[in-house]
Amino acid sequence: MQALGNKKILLGITGGIAAYKSAELVRLLIKAGAEVRVVMTPSAQEFVQPLTYQALSGHRVYVDLFDAEADSAMDHIELARWCDLLLVAPASADFLGKMNAGYADNLLLTLCLASKRPVAVAPAMNQQMFANSATQENLKQLAARDVRVWGPAEGDQACGDFGPGRMLEPEQLLANVALQFVPGKLDGVQLLLTAGPTREAIDPVRYISNRSSGKMGYALAEAALQAGARVTLVSGPVSLVAPPGAKLVAVESAQQMYEAVMQQVAHSDIFIGCAAVSDYRVDQVATHKLKKSENSMSLPLILNVDILAAVSALENKPFCVGFAAETQNLEKYALAKLEQKNLDMIAANPVGNADSGFETDTNQLEVFWRDGHHSIERDNKLAIAKQLIDLIVERYTCARS
Ligand code: PMT
Repeated sequence: MQALGNKKILLGITGGIAAYKSAELVRLLIKAGAEVRVVMTPSAQEFVQPLTYQALSGHRVYVDLFDAEADSAMDHIELARWCDLLLVAPASADFLGKMNAGYADNLLLTLCLASKRPVAVAPAMNQQMFANSATQENLKQLAARDVRVWGPAEGDQACGDFGPGRMLEPEQLLANVALQFVPGKLDGVQLLLTAGPTREAIDPVRYISNRSSGKMGYALAEAALQAGARVTLVSGPVSLVAPPGAKLVAVESAQQMYEAVMQQVAHSDIFIGCAAVSDYRVDQVATHKLKKSENSMSLPLILNVDILAAVSALENKPFCVGFAAETQNLEKYALAKLEQKNLDMIAANPVGNADSGFETDTNQLEVFWRDGHHSIERDNKLAIAKQLIDLIVERYTCARS
């Protein structure tokens, strides 16, 4: 396979036991046709000798800032410019923290700051270190700045623990690298989508919400990324990890989702409303926890803004795709929403049963546009998402020509 013919990969190696796996990664990248240069942090050299990577890559290994500066043919700015992709694998917790904070006290950190090329990191660390909120926050912020976060995988760890924190296997990292260079159907397209539920506060500890897990929306984000789109995912509270490469904007309420969408929409070519947005919110949110007093109580609700309708009413509106979650009269209600919200396309899913809609791993869709219809048969949500993205590409391309 020469999937990476002429591609220049700068491989950064930080201190971690997984550094030994990166030797195999260098070998695989070169076999796939890439030119590889390796940069090691000082602590990486405690685990593997630079000579190993030098022998495998056929090039000198860069180990410190001043060393790179002394090489007039390739100083650190040149190295940062030279590559098509900068991949840090393994990326330790310490390195990710410094990278997020913008430190530049070693050559690899300097390159991360200086490079305008896509940067990917493959975290590798103890499961508890990975679970720590500081690490999670660092990864979240790096992903929001378009750093691709690949992994980690879950499994046995060198320290004897079990859990997420293992670096992805070299074969998987190679596949991810190759994917970066596959020309996609949505190359250069900015896609904005909403996913998950919203939470409407009743008081400081209670809220109104729904059963959306975010699985459908996150699968769409992944399928769109695979098709080459730049994806911004505005998500309500879910327990899923955003696909690597997506820019995640986390929100809670419908109002916050609306504001986040409006902030991002100006640069978007396609908008997909997959979130289950609460139609109503509590009129007066109590400042203190409500006390039990009467046998019954009522909560006056007021209408939330319709995010999808607001986007499709914009003067320079993106190509707008809505979802319709229906327990009955799927086609009738979906077509009514297509019309009322002035959408380009609507994907209707039957909800309230065991194998489609909310919370399930599978789904099925009836997709409608002004003069067409297509059924997507029941399958897992990623497979469904890929087919829907294909349909969107078709209609979007048609609408632009
Ligand atoms: O998250 P999962 O568990 O995987 O479940 C997926 C899903 C069933 C939630 C998803 O496939 C889906 O159908 N999402 C839309 C659910 C919904 O709220 O449908 P609706 O028919 O009430 O709304 C119609 C459209 O208007 C939707 O695109 C919705 O995002 C949008 N809307 C609704 C209300 C509102 N205030 N603002 C909106 O943008």
